Parts: sequence; structure tokens; C-alpha cells
Amino acid sequence: MYQVPVIPGDGIGPEIVDAGKQVLEAAADAENFGVEWLPQPYGADHYLDTEEVLPEHAVDELSDYDAIYFGSIGDPRVEPGVLEKGIILKLRFEFDQYVNLRPIKLLEGVESPLKDRGPTDIDFTVVRENTEDFYVGLGGRDSTGKSEKELELERRLYEAKFDVDLEHDADELAYQMGVVSREGCERVIEYAFDHAAESGHERVTGVDKANVLTDVYGLWREVLEDVSAGYPAIEHEFNYVDAATMWFVKDPGHYDTVVTPNTFGDIVTDLGAMLQGGLGLAPGGNINPDGTSMFEPLHGSAPKYAGEDRANPTATIWAGSLLLDHLGEERASDLVLEALQDVIADGDTLTKDLGGDAGTEEFGATVAERVRELG
Ligand code: IPM
Ligand code: MN
Repeated sequence: MYQVPVIPGDGIGPEIVDAGKQVLEAAADAENFGVEWLPQPYGADHYLDTEEVLPEHAVDELSDYDAIYFGSIGDPRVEPGVLEKGIILKLRFEFDQYVNLRPIKLLEGVESPLKDRGPTDIDFTVVRENTEDFYVGLGGRDSTGKSEKELELERRLYEAKFDVDLEHDADELAYQMGVVSREGCERVIEYAFDHAAESGHERVTGVDKANVLTDVYGLWREVLEDVSAGYPAIEHEFNYVDAATMWFVKDPGHYDTVVTPNTFGDIVTDLGAMLQGGLGLAPGGNINPDGTSMFEPLHGSAPKYAGEDRANPTATIWAGSLLLDHLGEERASDLVLEALQDVIADGDTLTKDLGGDAGTEEFGATVAERVRELG
């Protein structure tokens, strides 16, 4: 019996998570194991009622479990950033979920916006670093409560570094630092090479901006070179992130495993989600192989569709498949993905985003039924 905490969250979160749970339960039945869901209240309503975003005791309690199933967070009544940083990023950082695993795979039956590209062309994995880079939260803005002295110091540092005179045009400064560590790069790059080896991939592509952000991504590249030496059977190469966005569109079939620092990983995986047919189809796993991981759809809470039974739960169901794989239930994980693929390829039960008229619940029930047929 696995105990899995569930954070349905805001907007469409509860609906898509219900659909996902149904499918995962069917897979668990088929493989003769049990899942007990442990519902967690965190999200906008809880915050507005209690002023609590994610309390320390919740982090403590969640740390007892291997995997959390997560819906979506975000609500127009709450200032942007509060819930995103206070829940999603907090969980990623507190649990040191250093891998963000994002499969970019076009399912059969889904149309990619790329003309004449099919499932064999769009099938790769992005391994996004998930705890460093510009996400470390180091920065400042001089208009927000800094003393005259601090402002003056920042100004002088800036002037000295860039040999400029800010006298008349720097009324306001803001800065944000990206930080990576050798260990932080090493562990995620190793994960990417292991993933490539296990998946029979030919190549690992590192995506960075080492031509401009030379310190941070210089270290990143050096580590990738070092790690690659341990995997002689796997090729490696480097792309600058701007070029990578071009090549994702021009020749997606080139990619196998892509590994990239946090910020660029955030950006390129939204592009990847479009290649695979839309945000409703893109899952992610926030993984700490030795701790508490978290599985979620890439998309947000889509508040305007909340309670309308129209969101596509595919990304959440797929995230559930990643969760089962993480728990070591590989057959159940494959069963979920196969059932999802069958229902979509079949085309009779599709949500609105894919041109059908099925609701969230009906789609989930259909995939669960297919799991039972296959299992
Ligand atoms: C994602 C999201 C998050 C991120 C936000 C909600 C903090 O965009 O999971 O890609 O930037 O990582
Ligand atoms: Mn994102």
C-alpha cells in the first residue's frame, strides 16, 4: 500500500487530479497494489482563509513520503508569485528535487503545430535542473526599502565594474543573480546521462548560454564535459539556448536527452509542450531520487475554466504515470501511458482542446476503463 499526499490546488487542479487518481487507482488494481491518497488543503482558498501558504509542519509531514501528486496553483485573488514561490518552489527547494523531468513526446492522434511532424519526430526528454540558477532568489531592488547607504554602495560597485557614470540615469537599479555549483550541475547531468543510457538514447544535448553568461554556464559546460567521460557510449553536444529554440522547431527529431539549467529549462519546456500538442499534454516530475518527489502537469490552474469540467487531464494522468514509475511500479506506469495513448489515438473521447467534446471526468473515466481492459 502506497500512501501518496495529494495537493489538488486551485482552479482546474481538483478536477484534473480527480481524473488522474481514478486512472492510477485502476492501474494499481490491475497490478495488485493499493494507493491511499492523503489530501492536502494548500492553495489559494487555504491561504485566503488562514494566511498560511505552506506551513513548516506540512513540509515536515510531507517529507515522510516518496511522492506527492500535485494539481495546479494560482488564483486571481492572490498576488502573482505568492503561491508559486510559497508552494511549488518551496517544495522543490525544501525537498531538494533537483531534477525536473519533462518528456516531450507527441502522442499518436495529437496534431503538432509543426507541419508534417509526427510521433517519431517529436520524442525526447528535457532534464531541467530544478534548484539553482536564477531560481535561487538572490537579488534586490533599490526602490524597496534599502537605505541610502546600501543604494550608494550598489551604485558604486556597478560604476566600478562597468566603468560608467550612473549619475543621471540610474535612479533605480535591480539585480538578480544566477548561481550554480559543481555538485548541483554534476548530479543533474549525471541523472541526464543515466536517463539517456536507460532510454537507449544516442545523445545528450546541453543547453546553456555559455557565450554570454560565461561564469555560470562555463562551469556548467565544464561539468558536462567531465561527466560525459563516464559515458563513452553516449554522444554529447552543446547548444546555446537561443539556437536550441530554433532547432526544437526546425529539427525536433535530432534531440534525445536534453539537459539544461533551471531558467532555460523553464522556457524551453513550454516550447516543448507546444510541440507535443499543447500545455494540457505536458507532464513533469520534480525528482529527488533519495527523497520526496512531486509530480505535476506543466500548466497552471486556468481559473476561468475552474469547475467547468472541460480541462484536459492528460498532463496530470501522464504525471501520474511518472509518479508510479518513480515508486518502482513500472508496469502500472506503462499501463497508464499505454491507456492514455490508446484513448487519444482512438479519437472517440477527446477533450475540447483536442477537438472533441468530452469533459474532464469522462476522459479520465475512459482512460481508467482502458487501463482495466489492458490490465
Ligand atoms: C513551471 C512553472 C514554475 C517555474 C512557476 C509556476 C514557479 O512555470 O513549473 O515551469 O517557473 O518553474
Ligand atoms: Mn514554466
